[in-house]
Amino acid sequence: MVGNQRVGIFHDKAGRTHLVTAVCTHADWPLDFCRSSQTWECPRHGARFAVDGSVIDGPVSRPLDAVSIPTAQWENLPPDELCERLRREQ
Ligand code: FES
Repeated sequence: MVGNQRVGIFHDKAGRTHLVTAVCTHADWPLDFCRSSQTWECPRHGARFAVDGSVIDGPVSRPLDAVSIPTAQWENLPPDELCERLRREQ
């Protein structure tokens, strides 16, 4: 959680960091991350989102909202440390 926002963080193999709101855009349900498929999945009605928040499938049309990283120097921080810094920034 960052503030009152559930945030999902994923570092891809190219070194990019993806931060998205980890709440389904269909009916505001918390998402789970599937390590094997590397997708955000909604346990309620089965929507799936890519790590950048785009819709893969399911009963949704709106992608996940992106959460911005205040500075590029933070992009390679481990997820826990990145969350902690984002909390302190708010
Ligand atoms: S609430 Fe996520 S797919 Fe319906």
